[in-house]
Amino acid sequence: MDRVKTGISGLDEMLNGGIPARRHIAIFGGPGSGKTSFCFEFAYRGAKAGEPSLYLSLEETDDDIIENMKNTFPMLTDISELVKSKLLKIVKPDKIDMDKIAEVVENAITDDGVKRVVIDSATMVRMSFVKEIEYRQTLFEFLSLLRNLDCTTLTTLEATTSKKEDMVFDLEHFVMDGIISVYNLDRGDRRIRALEIYKMRGTDHSRDLVPFKVTPSGIKVYVGEKVF
Ligand SMILES: Nc1ncnc2c1ncn2[C@@H]1O[C@H](COP(=O)(O)OP(=O)(O)OP(=O)(O)O)[C@@H](O)[C@H]1O
Ligand SMILES: [Mg+2]
Repeated sequence: MDRVKTGISGLDEMLNGGIPARRHIAIFGGPGSGKTSFCFEFAYRGAKAGEPSLYLSLEETDDDIIENMKNTFPMLTDISELVKSKLLKIVKPDKIDMDKIAEVVENAITDDGVKRVVIDSATMVRMSFVKEIEYRQTLFEFLSLLRNLDCTTLTTLEATTSKKEDMVFDLEHFVMDGIISVYNLDRGDRRIRALEIYKMRGTDHSRDLVPFKVTPSGIKVYVGEKVF
């Protein structure tokens, strides 16, 4: 099986080498759990390795994403350079519309040879629909389109709680090929970050809940360590 290395320290080890190529994976977590940072690093590492990457931001403007990520990861000093060279494309569509998003993704693949796509966030797409049934139909159509395209996609998915035991699953969790859950766990006087690979179709993977940190040089996943 072809795999795409996320490039995130420790994560590829948990995934037995990386995310299965051409799949659609959700990064699921509560507010501030690190979803954007994770997805950004995935796109950044791809771009750095010469794989054109597209980051579709449906919430924050492209300038905000760049500014925030430069502040979050100050040691990744070539972000602007990669953006300028178009290896790292950060785009905020003027309106949230599944057809428009599909068009942007298709064009990026055919015109720019994009291999990695990030959609931040699926929840914004859902909110743009008045009728649930229309959202469902469009989501299915969009995912079947993605299956025929030569790109690996990460989508952020918002959880309405930061409590691990209160997470609820929705349609998206069943239709995606994989779910990586990121948590900002309450430990009384502090919060700690942890993640788990909840599902990943077609591959064995770690089933441990492991701590991670957002560090200036990137996300570090501490494989083999316990969450206290
Ligand atoms: N330089 C930094 N060093 C350590 N942690 C940082 C740094 N910059 C940001 N963070 C942490 O990362 C968090 C934001 O992460 P991120 O934006 O990736 O989360 P998110 O899950 O996408 O949030 P949202 O639900 O708001 O979209 C901040 O709330 C902060 O705790
Ligand atoms: Mg975010």
